[in-house]
Amino acid sequence: MITPKYKIPITKPDLGEDEVLAVTNVIRSGWIMQGNCVSEFEQAFAKYVGAKMAIAVSSGTAALHLALLAAGVGQGRSVICPSYSFIATANVIRLCGAEPIFVDIDPETYNIDTKLLANVCQSNTCAILAVHQVGLPANLEEIKSFASKNNLVVIEDAACAIGSEYYQEKIGKPHSLAACFSFHPRKLLTTGDGGMVTTNDLEFAAQVRRLRQHGIDNPKDGYQIVGFNYRLTDLQAAIGLEQIKKLPQFLSHRRQQAARYNQAFSSHQLLSTPKEFPNMLSNFQSYQLRLLPNDNITRDDLLKGLIEAGISAQPGIQPIHKQPVYQEFNQLSLIETEKAAQQVIMLPLYYSLSEDEQDYIIETFFSLISES
Ligand SMILES: Cc1ncc(COP(=O)(O)O)c(C=O)c1O
Repeated sequence: MITPKYKIPITKPDLGEDEVLAVTNVIRSGWIMQGNCVSEFEQAFAKYVGAKMAIAVSSGTAALHLALLAAGVGQGRSVICPSYSFIATANVIRLCGAEPIFVDIDPETYNIDTKLLANVCQSNTCAILAVHQVGLPANLEEIKSFASKNNLVVIEDAACAIGSEYYQEKIGKPHSLAACFSFHPRKLLTTGDGGMVTTNDLEFAAQVRRLRQHGIDNPKDGYQIVGFNYRLTDLQAAIGLEQIKKLPQFLSHRRQQAARYNQAFSSHQLLSTPKEFPNMLSNFQSYQLRLLPNDNITRDDLLKGLIEAGISAQPGIQPIHKQPVYQEFNQLSLIETEKAAQQVIMLPLYYSLSEDEQDYIIETFFSLISES
């Protein structure tokens, strides 16, 4: 057993004095709920991703829920999405009264395998929820081409993809009807909790805004539809405004850190490093490394060794169709999804992770593989 030299979390938000001051100023202003700071944050976000409009909400889950509702997803319909995702991806479909249809992933990208779309699409399917998993853009051209032939709406689950690029344009432009982001502390930009919907469609944006705030547009017209309270607060938006200024710096540093991991791991025969594609740039929200089947060490023993050494590595994403609340989907055979869940290890990656700590992770990893 290795004596821990460091205690390294899987992730750490990068918040400092700028954020403290920004929140303090909001408190001093006397207005803390959705107000001017939220509007400013929406404008800064829309500008950053190149979208016409951005609507801030209380979480990534809220962003997805409202986007699907505003796109007309409802009772009796189904939506295609991957099972290799955080459970919110499928939950929001069910919250709209529709059914998720799980499609397997491409083992190289961990995103929807577009060759399988025709096999899973049904007569009641109305949309595809395309996840950019851990920041690598999904193959939107092929997804959109299938969608347009089959009259389906495409919504992007861009919860993990702030700063990622698709054909030299930011994810969120959007490349579909709407993209939905999360500001959970594991993401590159955090507001504690929070989310954003970006779109270029005026009517769609108006419906998302109405749904965000109890179904009201203009107080003189009263409540028009049944809505939610999915607002972000000015306290959170003030943090977001500081974080978005630092995003270019966060991104370039993460890409360097991921390149260091790639360099260390890419030539090892038991390991498969994340694939990179010239027109699909990841923000490396997480670093997914795959341990190929071998007779030396299991993925779980490797994880155990890393954790004992003070390194909070994690297993791959747990497939949604295997969760108890999705038990009626348990019979599905999503081979690549299940393989990824069994073989992937997520290694710590965050802005303040030092080179010494990263070297310690790499050395520990190799010592565990060779000890076995
Ligand atoms: C792919 C994906 N979709 C949706 C969400 C939900 O976002 P939130 O936690 O902000 O509600 C997450 C959160 O981690 C996610 O990773």
